[in-house]
Amino acid sequence: MSEEQELDYHTAIQKAGKLLFRFPLVTVRGTPLMCHIADNFEKIWAFNPHPSDLLIATYPKAGTTWTQEIVDLLLHNGDSEACKRAPTPVRSPFLEIFSPKPIPSGLDLLEKMDPPRMIKTHLPFHLVPLGFWENKCKTIYVARNAKDNMVSYFHFDRMNQTQPEPGPWECYVNKFMQGELGWGSWYDHVKGYWVEKEERNILYLFYEEMKENPRREVERIMRYLDLSLSDDVISRIVELTSFKSMKENPMSNYSCVPAPVFDHTISPFMRKGEVGDWRNYFSPEQSKMFDEDYKEKMKDVDIPFRDSI
Ligand code: A3P
Repeated sequence: MSEEQELDYHTAIQKAGKLLFRFPLVTVRGTPLMCHIADNFEKIWAFNPHPSDLLIATYPKAGTTWTQEIVDLLLHNGDSEACKRAPTPVRSPFLEIFSPKPIPSGLDLLEKMDPPRMIKTHLPFHLVPLGFWENKCKTIYVARNAKDNMVSYFHFDRMNQTQPEPGPWECYVNKFMQGELGWGSWYDHVKGYWVEKEERNILYLFYEEMKENPRREVERIMRYLDLSLSDDVISRIVELTSFKSMKENPMSNYSCVPAPVFDHTISPFMRKGEVGDWRNYFSPEQSKMFDEDYKEKMKDVDIPFRDSI
């Protein structure tokens, strides 16, 4: 992707201007989605990937962009210049996103690319087009502990002027617990992929484990992709995908999405990139109430999350 095309993506967003607002949520098969996604859901559902396509699936704010960057660098043998060919959402289109024209939809971008493509989705397992499973596409799922995931989503909803208003923090906690945010219930999302991971050959990763030992997780992804890269290249990839490097890289820090979509002055896309920030937000009472509800909602699975509960 040339600089000119990158500029096109950037200016397309600015041109969409007044067509952009905080889109309301509409429920599709039990999951609240932004109305432009809901309106186009049949087209998304009909998407037929190539068997060589790779799906990167997450609940919003679980570490999608980080994983996309790692995968792209692995596929390009650590060549940082090659991975600066375009911003993240152009290199790795967002399957279900349907923004007002002239912003290209995820499907528009995918149509112009040759497989193998690196496809991002936040759809819960039951809404992922069946073609991904019929064609046995590789799938990487990244999960992040509920409380940090929620804090990150809260700030994202503040800065993303096309997401519903987050409202005050106290109300946000309840909305998260009730599964009323865009892309629905965090609990159902992480469980949906967890129970399918063996059958569908899904690589299930944790944000906290990526933070704890990035090299180990990069190597895990490398093996899953059937790649074998030198130790030096792996070290370079770990360095290039550190929070600091990605925050400084205009092709991964989402500066390609300007106002009126992302208002980085409210909260930068690359915000903190830490484990445990929830402690700065949850009161002891909120944390207790959340944990009790969490145990009930998660009692049927044993997903080894770290740090939150
Ligand atoms: P915070 O808001 O907690 O900082 P997504 O890409 O799924 O939208 O997730 C965004 C979250 O991942 C943000 O979390 C962002 O800072 C964090 N993130 C992005 N790149 C990262 C990296 N290289 N290392 C650690 N965290 C990263």
